[in-house]
Amino acid sequence: MEKSSTGAGSTEVRTAQQQDSLTIVDNRTGKRYDLPITNGCIRAMDLRKIKVEDGDFGLMSYDPAFLNTASCISKITLIDGDLGILRYRGYPIEVLAEKSTYLETAYLLIHGELPNRSQLSDWTYHITHHTFIHESIKKFLDGFHYDAHPMSMLISTIAALSTFYPESKSIFSAESRKKQTYRLLGKLPTIAAFAYRHSLGLPFVYPDNDLSYTGNFLNMLFKTTELKYHPNPTLERALDILFILHADHEQNCSTSAMRGVGSSQSDPYCSTAAACAALYGPLHGGANEAVLRMLMEIGSVQKVPEYIKRVKGGEVKLMGFGHRVYKNYDPRAKIIKRAAYEVFDIMGRNPLLDIALEVERIALEDDYFVSRKLYPNVDFYSGLIYQSMGLPVTMFPVLFAIGRMAGWISQWEEMLLDPEQKIARPRQVYLGYGQRDYIPIDDRV
Ligand code: SDX
Repeated sequence: MEKSSTGAGSTEVRTAQQQDSLTIVDNRTGKRYDLPITNGCIRAMDLRKIKVEDGDFGLMSYDPAFLNTASCISKITLIDGDLGILRYRGYPIEVLAEKSTYLETAYLLIHGELPNRSQLSDWTYHITHHTFIHESIKKFLDGFHYDAHPMSMLISTIAALSTFYPESKSIFSAESRKKQTYRLLGKLPTIAAFAYRHSLGLPFVYPDNDLSYTGNFLNMLFKTTELKYHPNPTLERALDILFILHADHEQNCSTSAMRGVGSSQSDPYCSTAAACAALYGPLHGGANEAVLRMLMEIGSVQKVPEYIKRVKGGEVKLMGFGHRVYKNYDPRAKIIKRAAYEVFDIMGRNPLLDIALEVERIALEDDYFVSRKLYPNVDFYSGLIYQSMGLPVTMFPVLFAIGRMAGWISQWEEMLLDPEQKIARPRQVYLGYGQRDYIPIDDRV
């Protein structure tokens, strides 16, 4: 039993049942409805009981952009936006970034537990031996203009993979899902690196299975005439940390696309292509590219106040700032900022860093940003690292996609195995015309 306040100062003993329910009075009919509260939610379908006439459709909830709508129950990632907490399967992101590797974190996200030594060895072996792509894909990539955006090349090539692996349509076969998981995690860096090499007119560099996941990625990006590429361990580790930090983020836009397309029982390659397409947007994973373009546009520390003025005037957004969930500093941004300095020690200080630091300093003091709880997000500093590694801004969202691949797969599989899930098909509030008669063209204005 729990005492509660049901009005000014009054308390009454409530039954256990009343503790977890919402009582709604429909003022149109005077009827009362008790809706159960579970996990801090009411079921939207319970609103359909609330009608004026028995034949009514019943109430819906209207929530454009799903600001306050849970689309699923998940056990993968927890974000506490007010406290700036991010955990994968209960493990704080700070610990994983310090102690784990991307492949180990990918295993954790997808299987739910950290792998033991033999599980990690087996997982790494299979992913490493799925890094090659079909030779026909090279012809496909060569068909793009040299200046084609690598994200568009990635999206289309991932979708094309479904033509090479039609058995991937057996989405309810655990064995098939496992094989496609190896292929997606293994081949994404290869496709990304091939897209980059295509943009430079350089020959493709094939995977080197002696190297780590990130070491091999650096190999495929930057190897030239040397017989064996030796990745810089600091850059190798920095990429590992970046991929860990980007690996999952609960029901963000691209993961919602993965779940949504996957819910129609599309194969994992087409679902991933859709997720990648959602990530490409400048409000989402494309923000890391937009941040660098913004810093280059600002041009100097002295011009930061002028740009901030344009942001406050609503003319432009401060890219890399703000978040739908975090109303505190994005914990990933803190770790990335630290990792950036380690990369700069090797590659030299990125001159845009000073502009970024000044933007952050001003924004964290200015009431426009403070009142809107706008803090640096994962995309604010990541691009500075990628640029210092020698990558063009167009490759930044591609690297985000490589990291997020593990999250997309884990969320896709959780959706498929969730007995409550079915094809995603939201409703609408229709405020358009009533029925109208067809107007012959000569009678139209
Ligand atoms: C990612 O969802 C995820 O988890 C995403 C992600 C992941 O890991 O998957 O974390 C990755 O996408 C990070 C976000 C990257 N995007 C950017 O950095 C682009 C810039 N940020 C904004 O576009 C914006 O902050 C969003 C899109 C991130 C969040 O937008 P919301 O939650 O819809 O917030 P909003 O647009 O309603 O903004 C609330 C207010 C508005 O002002 P008012 O109308 O109240 O006056 O804050 C303002 C906005 O104008 N605002 C900004 C701003 N972001 C919000 N003003 C200036 N610059 C910004 N960046």
